[in-house]
Amino acid sequence: MENWDETRIKMGKNAARHSEDYGKQWVKEDPEQEGIYWPTEEMKKKAHINNPEIYNEARENPHKFWAEQAKKEYSWFEEWDETFEWEPPFFNWFLGSKTNLAYNCLDRHLEDKRNKAAIIWEPEPLEEEKRILTYQELYNMTNKFANALKDLGIEENEPVTFWMPMVPETAVAALACQRIGAWHSIVFTAFSPNAVKQRMEDAGSKTLITIDGFYRRGKVIELKSQIGEVLDEVDAENCIVVNRANTEPPMKEGRDVYFDEVVEEADNYCKPVEKEAEDTGFLLYTSGTTGKPKGIKHSCGAYGAQAAITMKWIFDLHENDVFFTSADIGWITGHSYALYGPLSLGATEIWYEGSPDYPDPDRLWKIIEENGVTQFYTAPTAIRALRQKGDEWVEKHDLGSLRLLGSVGEPIDHDTWMWFFEKVGGGRCPIVDTYWQTETGGILLTSLPGIGPFVPGVAGPAMPGIGYDILDATGEPVEPGESGEIVIKGPNFGPGMLRGVYKNPDRYENTYFSEYGDETYFSGDGGVKREMEIGGQQLLEITGRIDDVLEVAGHRLGSAEIEDAVDRIDEIVEAAVVGEPHEVKGEVPAVFAILQDGVEPSEELEKQIVKVVREEVGPVATPHVAYFVSDLPKTESGKIIRRFLKGLVRNTELGDMTTASNPECLVEIAEKTEYDG
Ligand code: PRX
Repeated sequence: MENWDETRIKMGKNAARHSEDYGKQWVKEDPEQEGIYWPTEEMKKKAHINNPEIYNEARENPHKFWAEQAKKEYSWFEEWDETFEWEPPFFNWFLGSKTNLAYNCLDRHLEDKRNKAAIIWEPEPLEEEKRILTYQELYNMTNKFANALKDLGIEENEPVTFWMPMVPETAVAALACQRIGAWHSIVFTAFSPNAVKQRMEDAGSKTLITIDGFYRRGKVIELKSQIGEVLDEVDAENCIVVNRANTEPPMKEGRDVYFDEVVEEADNYCKPVEKEAEDTGFLLYTSGTTGKPKGIKHSCGAYGAQAAITMKWIFDLHENDVFFTSADIGWITGHSYALYGPLSLGATEIWYEGSPDYPDPDRLWKIIEENGVTQFYTAPTAIRALRQKGDEWVEKHDLGSLRLLGSVGEPIDHDTWMWFFEKVGGGRCPIVDTYWQTETGGILLTSLPGIGPFVPGVAGPAMPGIGYDILDATGEPVEPGESGEIVIKGPNFGPGMLRGVYKNPDRYENTYFSEYGDETYFSGDGGVKREMEIGGQQLLEITGRIDDVLEVAGHRLGSAEIEDAVDRIDEIVEAAVVGEPHEVKGEVPAVFAILQDGVEPSEELEKQIVKVVREEVGPVATPHVAYFVSDLPKTESGKIIRRFLKGLVRNTELGDMTTASNPECLVEIAEKTEYDG
């Protein structure tokens, strides 16, 4: 097997050379403005959308725009009577329509694409063969698994929790849920069993779909063997286990069953249930400023339509394309653009199981080369990490098949953008810097490939049909060059926007619709308006979260969850967590902890902090540094002012200190963080 790797590279080389698009120049620099790129004539000719007039048209009647696109790109068993209904802050789309998301991803493609690859799965171990699932195969498996779910007693509108990595069975199971109208709630594998428990309890979920183990950096990460206790604690009725790594985890009779076995016994065809566009499609838990993660509730049909439309417009998918995102299914990007978006368009997409740098830092470039990937969508963290490994890793590969690059999850700095553009895209491909959130379901801000412009550090205008703005503290739109808070102005929400926080309408209102009133969605992000416009839409730069949410390696985490975990340590009286800048990960959690009287700071305590956070929240939230301090800055009413702590770790100005009741504590903290701002 030693030469297998080499053989694969050889076989893969030249994969895309016979395509007429191979190595083409898709962008050119503006002759008058350095650092601004526009699509070439070739790109405009190729792109589905190439006329900036579309922005004006959509702005005139955004609801009509979405309705027309939803009819074009999505299939409905019955069309709607009413496009939009609004009772601020609640709204509904496509009322009275009937559809099914799995039908849109599978059944409707069988006629002309049954033998097309739907998912090309790249397992992490190189010696393992990749698996290619055609639309027919994915359809067959989904139907069978949908019946298996029914056989186990899972019903329509029942939440089903997943703790699953990037393996084809995850896609099958998610589509099977859609087929029978059950709601998946997928938990990222680098969250802990405790995080799975929290989410199962909140959703009232009695079924877990998980895996014995999967490969990450050459090791088997076992999931099922870690989760037994949680299943007992939540009184789970079913646990369906995919056997991937033959680890033979403990299985409880009558509750735990193997995926393959239940599929084997199930009937072949399951009729997709007819859902209303507004019926719930899935829950996805995400972190906010305070409290526990909240269950963001997405619709099935309205969400699905927006996923399909944005996929087509923003990634400019064509029949023979191969789309690859390194995003994990545990996050919204994995839902919208690794699953529902590409499949609803009948595209071929790559799913990769493992780590981007395993066995070598050219793993992703190898996948792109071997599969002739045309669009590659990733996060700045991954680009920074791979860039650090040296240019030789990317230069080794022929990436001439690429036509478009995408970035998501955190602001992309200028140097990272340029490296991605030049080294990965060969200076030929546009970069769409897509800004959006779990809550928005689909991309909000981005340039479109056939229209442009592509500017390092600037996300772009809004997607046509989205009403956005940047407001100052008084609620007035800011002038170009000024910063403020990014909002979506009702009633011009996309169909894919959240439909609530599960079981908690108050939290929905308070989190998103209290800052600027119940007609304006508050994103929690800061941005700057640029002078430049396209189609009458201003370009926006995203500056990042202005609340207490952390973006660690593009993963969204709440300070409160990490603080709650640290507070469990007896020797710690109180803790505060903020994001400290990090070269590769963008930011990492920094813990400030007040110790009990008489307890001395120690390495042991630092280790305990790391351990408790990994156990309670998960490895994804591992703190990077702990500062032991005697006091934390607080308001008169005793609320911790994290803004000061952020300033101290970021070496930025602290601003008005009169809000603190105990500003003197900042002197000690500044010393510890080596503040020189
Ligand atoms: O802060 C913004 C950042 O990611 C947050 C949303 O995180 P999540 O719900 O996990 O969804 C991530 C993938 C859509 C946003 O509030 N963010 C996302 N995309 C960008 C971004 N920040 C800057 N530029 C982006 N392109």
